[in-house]
Parts: sequence; structure tokens; C-alpha cells
Amino acid sequence: MACIAVINQKGGVGKTTSVVNLGAGLSLLGKRVLMVDLDPQAHLTYSVGIKAHELSKTVYHVFKGDISVPEAVIERPITVRLEFSKKSEMKGIFYILPSSLELSGAEFEFGGIAGREFLLKECLTEAGKFDYVFIDCPPSLGLLTLNALTTADEIYIPLQTEFLALQGISKLLETVNVVQRRLNQRIKLTGIIGTRFDGRKRLNREVVEKIKDYFGNAVFNTLVRENISLAEAPGFGKTIYEYRPDSYGSEDYFHLCLEIIERSKKN
Ligand SMILES: Nc1ncnc2c1ncn2[C@@H]1O[C@H](COP(=O)(O)OP(=O)(O)O)[C@@H](O)[C@H]1O
Ligand SMILES: [Mg+2]
Repeated sequence: MACIAVINQKGGVGKTTSVVNLGAGLSLLGKRVLMVDLDPQAHLTYSVGIKAHELSKTVYHVFKGDISVPEAVIERPITVRLEFSKKSEMKGIFYILPSSLELSGAEFEFGGIAGREFLLKECLTEAGKFDYVFIDCPPSLGLLTLNALTTADEIYIPLQTEFLALQGISKLLETVNVVQRRLNQRIKLTGIIGTRFDGRKRLNREVVEKIKDYFGNAVFNTLVRENISLAEAPGFGKTIYEYRPDSYGSEDYFHLCLEIIERSKKN
């Protein structure tokens, strides 16, 4: 099992979009995938068509100890036809551990208890077997992100291929280092996802080079292009493969999934 925290304390860089479409894509490729929505804004939950505000069983209730993970997890089937992948119809099921606004009080509610950094890790031990677990982090380096970092073995950082892409990264890496030393020796930065790429812009190409200089092999070859369909799909509660199967976004995220599987074979 690969447990991957998708983090960047900057908002709007493509964390949630990446978790949804990597998770869904890997499920279409036959993998068993759990996506954990650790953001109180519940964007991931809403993005796949689940009304977070109507839920009474979420990751918050799991943290409180009221219910177990399997009681809160929601099954989400997906059927698509992707022209570019030659296959005819593809089917999958992915699993969501949903979030809710109540999680926004987590810092205060759970901040004072012993073992507060390990709430998620403890809960997930009873989650069942998955090939991939993706944790969608909130845009901060607070207690919730810390919980993701103690639980995961790998970190993916999405970076917008724009001016200031690397701003704040040293702070993020410093946090990862502290976690590595004190709380979770297994954690490793294994993936950098370049998002919102526009190959026509020189600046974008230059930023990608800079990112590659900084992170080397961790950078995925597949860049996710700027694509309006990716921004529209969540409003319909659909993954990109369901909303616009023939879009750049669909193609890019699917290729990224194939690259992830290739990498797992090598390790
Ligand atoms: N490649 C892309 N092209 C166009 N819009 C994108 C792309 N990736 C993300 N977006 C949009 O940008 C916004 C921020 O993305 P999101 O995944 O929510 O970021 P984060 O979770 O890091 O805050 C969302 O409206 C999303 O739909
Ligand atoms: Mg998000």
C-alpha cells in the first residue's frame, strides 16, 4: 500500500484536483483507492458529488471516536470511455473518507490531547486494504497537515508552474524534516506535480526548469496543462474523466496515473 499526502500550504495550486483525478484514474486502472478529505472546506468531498453539509459521518466523527473509518467511507462508482487510451469502456470504484466544516475546529478540539498528531494514523489502521491512499491536505501546516504527515509514507507536492511557484517551499520542507526526525521516519518526498502548465508561455517553461533543478527526479514527466474543464468538473460533481473524457485534463491526469504505476513497479 502507498499512502500519499498531497500537500502545499498555498491554496489553489491543484491539491484537490490532483487527488480527485489521480484517485479516480488509478481506480479505472484497477487499483483500490481511498481518498481522505482532510480539508474542513470539504472541496474534495463536494468535487465528487457528495453534499458534505448533509453528512453525519465524516472524518471529524472518526477523529472524535464516535465511529470507525469503514462507517464513514463512501463508495463512488465510475464508468467512462477514454478515446485516447484505446480501451473501450472502463469501470472503477473509488472510496472517499469525507470531510465536513466541523473539522475546522480540530486545532482547538483535539489540539490539547496526547497523541494529537497521530489521530489519522490510528483511525486508518482499521480502514481495510487499499493500493493507494491519498490524503488531501488543507492549505496550512497546522495539526491536520501534521496528521497527514505522520500517516503517509510519501509526499506529493503540486506546484503551479507560475511566478513564485517555489515561494514557501523551504518552510514546507523544513516542516517535513522535523516530522521525519521526530514523528515519522518513513516519510519521503517522492512526487512533484507541475500544474496549470501553459507551454506557450516562456515563464511557465522556465519555472518548470527551475522546479526540475530544485527537485530533480521527484518531478513527474507529465505536466498538467491549464484546462478549463478541470475547473468546471467539480461543479458537476464529476471527475475529469466523466465530465470531459477527451480533454487535456483527462489525458494529463490519466498519463500521470500511468507514471505513478510505472514508478511503483521500479521501487
Ligand atoms: N490544470 C488546471 N487548469 C485549470 N484550472 C485548474 C487546474 N488545476 C486546478 N484548477 C482549478 O484551480 C482551482 C484551485 O485548484 P484546487 O485543486 O482546488 O487547489 P488546492 O486544493 O491546492 O487549493 C480550482 O478552481 C480548480 O478547479
Ligand atoms: Mg484543496
